This record gives sequence, structure tokens and C-alpha cells, in this order.
Amino acid sequence: MWMIICLLFSSGLATLENDRDFKMCGIWRHGNASRNLKYDLKTGCEKIEISANESTLSIRGSITAKCTRSSSIHLDSNALQNQSNFCVLWEPLLDLLIVEVNGNNHILCEPKGLQGSCCTDLSLGDQENASLYGIVKGSTRGDIIRDDVMETYTFKGGSINCKERFCDDASQKSRGANMIEEVVMKSNTTGHVDLPCAQSTVIEMEEGFTGLNLTLPASVASNMIPSVYLPSCLKSKTNIKSKVVCTYYKEQKLFQVGPSDSTLLGDIVGLSVENEIIQNLPEPVKIRFHHIPLPANCSGRCVSWDTKKDKEVNWKYEGCYTFKINERETECQCYHLTYFAILVQVKPRATVRHLEALTFITAVCCAVSLVSCLVLFYWLCKHRKMKKNQTSLVHRGLVVAIFLLCLFLILTGTIANVGNETVCEMTGALLHYSLLSTLCWMAMEVFHTFLLVRKVFSSRPPWVFYMGGFGLPALLVGILLSIGDIYGKKKIVPSENITGPYHMCWMLDSDKSLLAHYIINIGLLAVVVSSGTVMLFLVVKEIRNRSDWKKINVAFLSIWGLTCLFGTTWGLSFLDFGPFSEATLFLFCIINSLQGFFLMLRYYALERIKKKDDSSSGGSSSGPSKQHMLNTHENS
Ligand SMILES: *[C@@H]1O[C@H](CO)[C@@H](O)[C@H](O)[C@H]1NC(C)=O
Ligand SMILES: *[C@@H]1O[C@H](CO)[C@@H](O)[C@H](O)[C@H]1NC(C)=O
Repeated sequence: MWMIICLLFSSGLATLENDRDFKMCGIWRHGNASRNLKYDLKTGCEKIEISANESTLSIRGSITAKCTRSSSIHLDSNALQNQSNFCVLWEPLLDLLIVEVNGNNHILCEPKGLQGSCCTDLSLGDQENASLYGIVKGSTRGDIIRDDVMETYTFKGGSINCKERFCDDASQKSRGANMIEEVVMKSNTTGHVDLPCAQSTVIEMEEGFTGLNLTLPASVASNMIPSVYLPSCLKSKTNIKSKVVCTYYKEQKLFQVGPSDSTLLGDIVGLSVENEIIQNLPEPVKIRFHHIPLPANCSGRCVSWDTKKDKEVNWKYEGCYTFKINERETECQCYHLTYFAILVQVKPRATVRHLEALTFITAVCCAVSLVSCLVLFYWLCKHRKMKKNQTSLVHRGLVVAIFLLCLFLILTGTIANVGNETVCEMTGALLHYSLLSTLCWMAMEVFHTFLLVRKVFSSRPPWVFYMGGFGLPALLVGILLSIGDIYGKKKIVPSENITGPYHMCWMLDSDKSLLAHYIINIGLLAVVVSSGTVMLFLVVKEIRNRSDWKKINVAFLSIWGLTCLFGTTWGLSFLDFGPFSEATLFLFCIINSLQGFFLMLRYYALERIKKKDDSSSGGSSSGPSKQHMLNTHENS
């Protein structure tokens, strides 16, 4: 119980004051007759006297920077009372002096801007005793000075640079930036307010405010001062006048650092409207930052710092859009008010050029491929009875794999935006599975052709092919799934608009995923391409001397060449796009997604050649070797 009271008490005190501010409280024991608050204040930095007798509470001294006033205020008296609580508050930075009697505030000195040199650190000087009327339990900062009745308390001040002290204080507090804004708001000025750690512009929005463009105070040495556009919607309908404080912070110390892989670019701008929390603006506030040229591999993003939630203060991306004006200028458009800056991702993040166009092309070409795969699959099944061999089986396997690949490639973007994490993880796994399966079936095709050409006729049971084409990828993906944290929602950032990333369900950017990508994807691709090349070389060597070679070599080479190209490009499209030129980028994308279509073309061309061959040779001269060659065409 005591603990709680103590805690409440101390936390109440902690929020009361800043170090430089002065607060003296006490109980004024007075008579029942009418009472006055009398004051006589002069500029300077000597002392302040707080005294009381039967009828008068009197504040006298010279501690103010600008305020010279002397007068007397009649206090409402309650006949039954013979004592009143009072406090004297002095905020030197603002030149603000308030006397509070029984809960009523009397502002003796009003703030007029922030004071550079000011009188503070008031320390207790002489005191005078009294007998009946006076001040009982006089205290500063909650510490009681004297319990007995005193007539006068005197405090002596010292002159310091208040702005510097204030900035030092603020940089040590977690709410430093808020403190600065509050002080500027309270300083009761419009226009520029200078502090060593920040520069503010205070604007009063009156009825009919139509928006305002402003550059922050020009006295900053560099020419990289941000400019701000305040839209008309900032002015609330309810208040006749409201003040906006726009602050340019020179010290990043006031703000917590961002994520470890990023750094804040120099400038931070804070915006706030008096007594209001501004969110969901219909028109954005625009802040244009000038900065050092960003290296090509770094991406800057506008961030804001929500100080309302004191617990989890951190820079966040939500609520602001980033527009790159040029290398040295970035505009942030934000729909709420708080502190803004640009955060630069130090770890280079891959961005993809022309992402929107590429996505569109992929979708269209994949759709063409899907239809082609269906047609081809139908043909293969129809002709299956006629040719009871493994060729048809290997073709069908590849068609199914490419069909799945195109299907998931079309779906992955949509699912990433609609589905939840688990669904996305499964889709990523399935996409990966179909890619691996396509690569495996390509390897099957190459291997199968090779065996046929080398006249190895021993028939293998179908399950060998199924295991290779569908089983092996399933095993690999199964292992990766059991490891976990491999598949999920991946962001692909277009270089034109880095605030609008494209999501897809694929392998994540984590270290584990990258390792899996390099070992499995690149590894498998390397195996397929290199074995394909070796076998192509061997096959060409084998059949070059045959009599019918001339007739078919063009078709043969072009077709097998295409197969190799397909394999290569599929792999490349999942690597970084970075090093490729624009034209290659689009070409790769088109060729890749049209693979199903090319597969159908190839099959059709082979059928044509075969028919022509059959009719021209009249079917008489062919022996086992002719039949063998036909198989060769078909499989290549
Ligand atoms: C109380 O003090 C004020 C000035 O501090 C003085 O003018 C007044 O005469 C005093 N009243 C009495 C009853 O002593
Ligand atoms: C950038 O992306 C965001 C989010 O998708 C979008 O609202 C904004 O209009 C885009 N900007 C441009 C210039 O395309």
C-alpha cells in the first residue's frame, strides 16, 4: 500500500517540472477580511521575494527577461476560510510567471517567445518569521522548507543560457521532441522560433485557411532545408483559430534510432497542431527533403515516429508515401502528423525495374502457356495408344510440370495479397515444387534422348521417371518445409515506386532460404544445363556421320537449343534481375512464361517432320535405324 502511494507521489512529481523551472508552494494563513495579490516585477536576475500577511500575498523581485509589471489583484474571499493554498510557478525559458491561489491561475507575466539568457536556479535566501499570519509549510519541488509560519521567503537566481540548457535537458529525455514542441506551442508567438537544437515555425490557421507552402527557417547553414506543404484540411472546423508548429530538428539524439539495417538521413521534421491529434487526412501533408545523393543500391523511405505510444517508439513506414523527385530530393506525403524523416536502407535492397510491366507480361504469357499445355496434354494422351513408349510419358510429365508452374506463377501474386501466412507458405512451397519438377523433367528429357540415340533400348519401368520428375522435388520441398522459415510472403520492390511493393509467395529473404536457393535451385539448374550440354555434344558427335543427318540437323539443333535456353532462362528469372539490360529482361520474361506454348510448337513441328519423312520414304526403306531416328527427333 505504501509502495503504491509512494510511487504515485513520485511519478506525480516527476511529470511536474523541468530542472530549470521553479515552483514554490505553501499555505497562506490569512484573516477573514478581503485579500489581495500584489506584485512588483522587474527585469534582471537578482532575487524574488514571496511574502504574506493578514491581507496580502506579495510577489516582488527582478528575475524576468522582458516582463516589467506591478499591480494588485483582488482575490475572491470566502469568509469561512482562514487559509489558502498557493503556488508560484516560474518558467524562465518562456518568461512565464503564474501564481495559483486556491486553484485559480493568475498569469503575472505572459510568454512572448523563448528567452536566451534567463534567470533560473533559484536558491533559498533569507527568510523572515511571523507570528500569526503568513506562509506555513513553504516548499519547493515538494520538499518542505519550514513548517512554521513565515512572513517572507527570498530566492536568489543565477543567469544562464536557457535555450542551451533546455536542449541539453530535452536530448536526455525520451520525450525530448515533445518537450520542444510543447515549449514552442506555449511560447505564444507566431513566426520563427530558434533553439540550438531545433528551429520552429509557428503558423496560426485562421478561418478560411487554404493551405500553405513554407520553407523552414533559412538561418540553417546548409542549403538542404526541407520544405513543407500544409493542406487546407489541417484546419479543423470546430476551432476558430489553431496553431501549427513545424519544427526542423538538427539533433538526431532526440529520436531513437531506426532498424539496425538502416540509417536516418540528416533531417527530421516535426509537425503538430495545437491540442489535436491529426490522423487520416483527406489530403496529405507534403514534406520535401533535400539530401546527399543516394547511392543506386540504397533506397530511401519516408518514415514517421509516433510518440503517442511511449512504450514502443520506433520509426514506422505506415501512413507515408515516398516519392523520389531526383537523386537529391525526396518527397514524403503523409496522412497524419508527427515526426518525419527519411530512413535509408543501408543494406542494399534489390529493386526490380519495370515490375508492373513484367508482371503483366508474365501473367499473359503464362495464360497462353496454360492453354498450350492443356492442348498438348490432350494430343499426347490421344496418341498414347499408338506409341507405347516412354517418350510420351516423359513429354507428359514435362507438360504437367510446366502447367503447374504457370498456374502457381499466376496465382502467387493474388494469394500473397489475399491469403494468410500459412496459405502463402504453402503456395510458395508448391511454386517451388513445380519449378523443381520442371527442371527435373527437363533433365529426364535430355537423359532419355541421350539413351535413345546411344541405342540403349532397355525399357525402364515408368515409376523410375515419376520418381525422378515428381518424387525428387517433393522430397526436397518436404525437407525445406520441415526445416521451416523458408517459404512465405516475399516483397519485391519496384524501383519506380518503392512504397508499393509487389508481394509474392515464394522463398523468403532469410539466410536459410538463400542457402536453400543457392544449393537446390542453382545447383539443380547447373546440373540440368551442364549435363544437357555434355549430352548434346555427345549426340551430335554420334549422329553427324549418319546419312540422314543433313535433312534433320537444322530442326534438331534449333529445338534442342531452345530446350537449353528454356532451362537457363527459368533459372535466371528467379535470380537477381540487376545485371541485365532492359531488353534482355523483357525477352527472358516472355520466353520463360511462354515455355508451355513453345513446347506445343515443338511437338507440332516434330509431328510434321515425322509425317513428311514417313510419306517421302514410303515406309519401305525404314528399318530399325529409321524408327530409332524418328524417336530421336521427337525427343529432342
Ligand atoms: C501586508 O503587506 C503589504 C505589502 O507587502 C503591505 O502593504 C500591507 O500594509 C501589509 N498589511 C498589514 C496588515 O500589515
Ligand atoms: C505507389 O504505390 C502506392 C501503393 O501501392 C500507390 O498508392 C501509389 O499511387 C503509387 N505511386 C505511384 C506514383 O505510382
